[in-house]
Amino acid sequence: MRTQVGIIGAGPAGLFLSLLLQRAGIDCVVLESRSREYVESRVRAGVLEQGTVNLMAELGVDARLRRECMIDEGLDMRFSGKLIHLDLPDLTNGKLVHIYGQQEVVKDLIAKRIASGHALLFEAEATRIEGINTGKPTIHFKHEGKEQTLTCDFVAGCDGFHGVGRPAMPASELKIYDREFPFSWLGVLSESPPLTEMTYCNHERGYALVSRRSPQIARLYVQCPNDDDLANWPDSRIWDELHLRIGDEARTELKEGRIFQKGITPCRSFVSAPMQHGRLFLAGDASHIVPPTGAKGLNLAVADVRVLSRGLIDFFKTGATQRLERYSEVCLRRIWKVVRFSTFMTMLLHRPPDQTPFDREIQIAELDYIRTSRAPQTAIAENYVGLPYEDD
Ligand code: FAD
Ligand code: DHB
Repeated sequence: MRTQVGIIGAGPAGLFLSLLLQRAGIDCVVLESRSREYVESRVRAGVLEQGTVNLMAELGVDARLRRECMIDEGLDMRFSGKLIHLDLPDLTNGKLVHIYGQQEVVKDLIAKRIASGHALLFEAEATRIEGINTGKPTIHFKHEGKEQTLTCDFVAGCDGFHGVGRPAMPASELKIYDREFPFSWLGVLSESPPLTEMTYCNHERGYALVSRRSPQIARLYVQCPNDDDLANWPDSRIWDELHLRIGDEARTELKEGRIFQKGITPCRSFVSAPMQHGRLFLAGDASHIVPPTGAKGLNLAVADVRVLSRGLIDFFKTGATQRLERYSEVCLRRIWKVVRFSTFMTMLLHRPPDQTPFDREIQIAELDYIRTSRAPQTAIAENYVGLPYEDD
């Protein structure tokens, strides 16, 4: 097989890139190791920045989002019996976020790609990338029981944190920045009405978050130890911790329902730079992950492929390489700002197991400062709704 851009991975990064390129008339093939059912039901993020929603509109994949999403104009933070309420449009000159599950975004992107008759192979696992320093790199992959090859002009490694893209970069040229936090998130979906606002909570017993997917479906998270196991979390314990941590000791505010999905996600910041070598470009989780507290992973993947698509389009239309050469540099400026914000939110809202009494008091003082001062509220709101794209 032969194409202009070989894309490994049908997560948000790979799928958005494929639609951006096909819209510009550039041929690409997407290889995805999992089945369509698997990727369409993988529950992850749910907060979309305006830039992500705008891109879905530009690509004509926003019809269901408009019907089914929830608009979020507020962000609440609870701590020590107090409340910080951020009015997002007021603090950001009218901006807000949309709540729409990542797996719904993925379904809409896959439907568009398939309806337009362009190549997207499921159960096609890339095993090796060869020749990234030549003009014609080749992706080796397994599909329908056969070893196959895809020869391309460029390879886009959109294959997530555990893919083959990053290991194909020369290790000697990569700088790795890694920080593991000493806690994880236990996340569940429940058939119960959520709170009316997105509510982050800092409690003595640890962090909790009440988000939502619809007026009837709550998306709930609680901080847990890194070595924890789902078996330690029967539904009754999840509800007990949620009521306590959100300050609902009377159990009257947060409604309980059937929990139908559970998972544990570690909190980690990781950046691998640069994001390109020869004809291989990495995007999204393949090159960086952020702790989930800022709700940024998916939005950052979208920001990367927006920049990459412009570089590739310039190259194929005019032969110009300037944008491609600057890909890493342009993306990393945004990535580090997002790592900064996600780290700040993580440290503000969680209780590390080794937190000293001194650090606890500083944390409470910081929350109280935010509660009573507009400047830090504006800074949080601006980052949460999404910083402007710098390459516009
Ligand atoms: P991915 O979505 O990981 O997509 C990569 C794709 O590549 C996958 O479909 C994978 O199957 C495929 N692939 C991998 N290897 C190969 C191969 N060799 N050949 C072919 N295909 C391959 N972010 C938030 O903002 N909030 C959250 O609550 C949140 N929760 C998360 C929970 C979990 C368990 C994880 C892992 C991430 C979570 N994130 C969250 C982060 C967010 O979901 C990611 O940042 C986002 O999915 C990144 O998109 P991506 O396309 O770069 O990578
Ligand atoms: C959700 C996820 C996040 O990481 C976050 O910070 C807020 C909300 C969610 O899944 O709805």
